[in-house]
Amino acid sequence: MAEIIVNGGNRLSGEIAVQGAKNSVLPVLAGAVLCDGECIIHNCPNLSDVGTSIKILRGFGARVKYQNNTVTVDCRSINNYKIDDNLMREMRSSVVFLGGILGRMRRAVISSPGGCELGPRPIDLHLSALKKLGVLIEEEHGFLNCNAENGIIGSEIHLTFPSVGATENIILTAATAKGVTVIHNAAREPEISDLADFLNSAGARIYGSGSDTVYIHGVERLHGTTHTIIPDRIVAATYMSAAAVTGGKFVLTHIMPSHMVALLHAFRESGCDISVKGKSLTITAPKQILRIPTVRSLVYPAFPTDAGPLVISMLTLAEGTSVFVENIFENRFRYINELNRLGASIKTEGKVAVIEGVKSLSGARCVCPDLRGGAALVVASLAANGESQITNISHINRGYDNITGVLQNVGADIKIKE
Ligand code: UD1
Repeated sequence: MAEIIVNGGNRLSGEIAVQGAKNSVLPVLAGAVLCDGECIIHNCPNLSDVGTSIKILRGFGARVKYQNNTVTVDCRSINNYKIDDNLMREMRSSVVFLGGILGRMRRAVISSPGGCELGPRPIDLHLSALKKLGVLIEEEHGFLNCNAENGIIGSEIHLTFPSVGATENIILTAATAKGVTVIHNAAREPEISDLADFLNSAGARIYGSGSDTVYIHGVERLHGTTHTIIPDRIVAATYMSAAAVTGGKFVLTHIMPSHMVALLHAFRESGCDISVKGKSLTITAPKQILRIPTVRSLVYPAFPTDAGPLVISMLTLAEGTSVFVENIFENRFRYINELNRLGASIKTEGKVAVIEGVKSLSGARCVCPDLRGGAALVVASLAANGESQITNISHINRGYDNITGVLQNVGADIKIKE
């Protein structure tokens, strides 16, 4: 099994072009399913989750090509509405293809996505919204049989929680429905607006994305289009954290600072010097990382849950004690034990982590429990004295395009051992 080997302690500096956002590519590829024509999607990072999405598309019968970070998808040949059970298990976010294939074929069969590494993650909000749009859903033997052969009808939907995935699935299902759908209490994440921009460029009529009320005027059909995926704000936060813990300095290019307001605030609070210019920023580590009294993850535009592990990783080396409150996922702290193996001093209780800053970290063997937890281990190991071996790295490959190569280019002693 491949592992990442890091010899920590190097001061990192240089320029990094931030990859496209994983959480945008997946719904946009699901959106391509609705299009009667070729979709050319630029800035798609090379990730195993993108590979899984391509397999799902091919499973539907689509023609897909992936070359130089551009995915070309032609869904005119689609003839199947089932998502393979193994692909569903490989990537929980496969559930976003439900909206795409339902909109296209008026039928879908997927296996029920079970729990995942972050906790139970139900899809009740997705399903009750789809039912409101006229989709009949039966659950048998762990499979969801969805049928909208009598048509998808626009409706008013009130989400009890602004779920990102549910908002995306509703947009996808409603884009070619009859009539108008209104989502109240919609998620406002930038990736939702990216999906809406993509669909609108293919002929959809979606208004209000990025706000908590989204209006979808159903259109008969969508056509092919060209779209560029937005930058990945969580990957940007990962490299910012790496600069901070190594006493380094990075210029990050290809970013969208307006998507990162809460993140920039947290890094500045920890003493990092950040200057933003257009679509790039320069981050310089402080001499001593400062504690942050409290960081709370919440829905956008507040601090993103996915960046929690990365900021906690940085705060392990702060002067003083910081507190992180995780408000989105129940089981997000499994990487904390692994950070403690590297010499961090973190205690958790329920949704709260108390991070007592230490003077230094030291290399150790640790296991990635999930995607962002794994990235947090990479960040901490860059600062740890001596060698770290990080195992179970397939999680990291789900969301980072060549993380070891990127970090080598800015001076890290890091490699993959096959
Ligand atoms: C998306 C992101 C993920 C990010 C999360 C929150 C993708 C591919 N993934 O995940 O990286 O961490 O948003 O920003 O875009 N919930 C329910 N019932 C539902 C749906 C959600 O109870 O039907 C709960 C979840 O268990 C969780 C919370 O709502 O506690 C947030 O989930 P949601 O916003 O749906 O996240 P995802 O779309 O799964």
